[in-house]
Amino acid sequence: MTTTLITGANKGLGFETARRLIAAGHTVYLGSRDAERGRRAAERLGARLVVLDVTDDASVAAAAKTVEAGGGLDVLINNAGIEARTPDGGVIGAAEVTADMMRQVFETNVFGVVRVTHAFLPLLRRSAAPVVVNVSSGLASLDRVSTPDTPMHAYPGVAYPASKATVNMVTVQYAKAFPEMRINAVEPGYTATDLNAHTGHQTVEEGAEIIVRMATVGPDGPTGGYFDIEGTLPW
Ligand SMILES: NC(=O)c1ccc[n+]([C@@H]2O[C@H](COP(=O)([O-])OP(=O)(O)OC[C@H]3O[C@@H](n4cnc5c(N)ncnc54)[C@H](OP(=O)(O)O)[C@@H]3O)[C@@H](O)[C@H]2O)c1
Repeated sequence: MTTTLITGANKGLGFETARRLIAAGHTVYLGSRDAERGRRAAERLGARLVVLDVTDDASVAAAAKTVEAGGGLDVLINNAGIEARTPDGGVIGAAEVTADMMRQVFETNVFGVVRVTHAFLPLLRRSAAPVVVNVSSGLASLDRVSTPDTPMHAYPGVAYPASKATVNMVTVQYAKAFPEMRINAVEPGYTATDLNAHTGHQTVEEGAEIIVRMATVGPDGPTGGYFDIEGTLPW
């Protein structure tokens, strides 16, 4: 039996990933920072709710205790993420971004990944086949963002791509440190969710595909990589 924790799984790509992995036979801990939103989502899917705010040490420590008491963890999916937007929904560009805005985005997207991974490492180390999936973005790719005449090049935001590029580096460094684990970063593709006010052109079913694929890699699968549904992405 495989036990999987997905952060930020009360909606969007995390919720769809939970649905798919439960269908594949995983026991899924559905992470949600809000107990009521999480309870509703977990009930719909037959998942176990774990209240978990990735920006809060105490919340993450309590979640680790809950999952440990439930029998341990095999797969960790660091999915919770935010994108800094103005109140009217616009992307915050280079002229407007401040250190405080960057810090807020990094607190969730980067420090959240490290906080959760660090807390769950002892459990993952006890698994026979530990797997970590870090939900990154195509906007993490320096290669893509600097290639003119592409949608990635046209994206004006600073904080979100910088945070996801850091997630990629964190992924590589963890993968080297823990060769017994499969640790990869994934780009789901531009997917209609609350994150982008549903402007994405993919469905959550399409977006979750690569997350599910990398969550179910075997011990001979890749590690330290950065993938979308087509294959390896350029850093
Ligand atoms: N959608 C895309 O086009 C796209 C493309 C590339 C990568 N991604 C990445 O995919 C991941 C999932 O995003 P999504 O598109 O599914 O967005 P979403 O529908 O907005 O879902 C984001 C999830 O993260 C949770 N979250 C935010 N801050 C949190 C915190 N401090 N602690 C715990 N949970 C927190 C949200 O919880 P609440 O409901 O409580 O806010 C929600 O469950 C993110 O990492 C995002 O960067 C998305």
